[in-house]
Amino acid sequence: MDFHLTKEQQMLRKMYREFAENEVKPLAEEIDEEERFPMETVEKMAKLGMMGIYFPKEYGGAGGDVLSYAMCVEELAKVCGTTAVIVSAHTSLCCAPIFEHGTEEQKQKYLPDLLSGRKIGAFGLTEPGAGTDASGQQTTAVLEGDHYVLNGSKCFITNGNVADTFVVFAMTDKKAGNHGISAFIVERDFPGFSQGKHEKKMGIRGSSTCDLIFEDCIVPKENLLGKEGKGFKIAMQTLDGGRIGIASQALGLAEGAIDEAVKYTKERVQFGRRLSQFQNTQFQLADMACRTQAAQHLVYAAAMAKENHESYSEKAAMAKLFAAETASDVTRRAVQLFGGYGYTREYPVERMMRDAKITEIYEGTSEVQRMVIAKYLGVN
Ligand code: CAA
Repeated sequence: MDFHLTKEQQMLRKMYREFAENEVKPLAEEIDEEERFPMETVEKMAKLGMMGIYFPKEYGGAGGDVLSYAMCVEELAKVCGTTAVIVSAHTSLCCAPIFEHGTEEQKQKYLPDLLSGRKIGAFGLTEPGAGTDASGQQTTAVLEGDHYVLNGSKCFITNGNVADTFVVFAMTDKKAGNHGISAFIVERDFPGFSQGKHEKKMGIRGSSTCDLIFEDCIVPKENLLGKEGKGFKIAMQTLDGGRIGIASQALGLAEGAIDEAVKYTKERVQFGRRLSQFQNTQFQLADMACRTQAAQHLVYAAAMAKENHESYSEKAAMAKLFAAETASDVTRRAVQLFGGYGYTREYPVERMMRDAKITEIYEGTSEVQRMVIAKYLGVN
């Protein structure tokens, strides 16, 4: 696999890295500690085109490509898992389905604000009784004249507290199983829409995660996204893309933890030698680097497959599974190399380890990724 980056991709990567170092890293500890959404960072990212990287300029996007987007999420995650997921959920889970399945009117209406970062997007699929079993939707949508009436609730919605635009899934025909699910574009100020409980989380604590509540929520008929009954397919396709974003987040977390561990073990002296001079340290770091580089290959291969309009569902599942498990393993080993200091909030590896765990859970658990991969092996 050839990952020779174009001049433009190299330039973008440099810009994302500098932005992460200068603007994101200094806030990472504070937003984690205070569980504060970094709106000021989102505003700065918007100005740099980071909220709509791989979408055409005609809709307000930056006109870049999917690999550049993956590298952006990766660079952000090296220093802050929270900021990475804000971009990933907004881009992959809200902008992408509107771009890929929206009518021209819907694209013209919603994309310019989303892609320029003037508005933030979110994705409402998960419900208390429909997590991994995403087809078990209980939220209903009933067509009444020129609008749908939505009733039900969603949970664990990333960007939920701050988003203006939501891609929401609901049952339009309960008897039809997954073929009875439809997708809708919902605006925050539609009557009957409200946000519920805000989650307090182990990691990515600066990102907002909350319930969405629909009580006779009025959604104009023209906000149906795709055709009635095609919502489950739209959700699955959207998650294929989302998994590239989360895989990139996991990759960045692993890389960030390695950077920190290399720096620390070259400074810390025990038994009269720097930790980096002990063979255990070298072997640990070698294993961590090896796994992380393998994850990078899977992530970039999935991003390039999406960019080239090849089938990428299996590649995205492999990338997310491997990168997420790598992030958890590598960040845990980094904490171990730091010893007692690694367990304190004085160093970022503790936060990285907490942030890494969610990459094995959201946008499809590692078990779900294994189910998808097994399906492609023909063993389902
Ligand atoms: N693209 C298009 N269509 C797809 C598809 C894909 N990737 N995957 C499945 N489908 C279609 C199938 O072709 C099938 O179509 P037909 O009924 O017409 O034959 C239909 O969907 C059902 O397929 P399956 O029988 O394989 O589906 P299933 O019900 O067994 O579920 C699953 C499979 C992989 C477990 C799926 O439900 C799944 O991915 N679950 C996890 C959901 C998930 O990731 N949730 C996270 C939500 S977002 C989040 O985390 C919060 C956040 O804000 C970040």
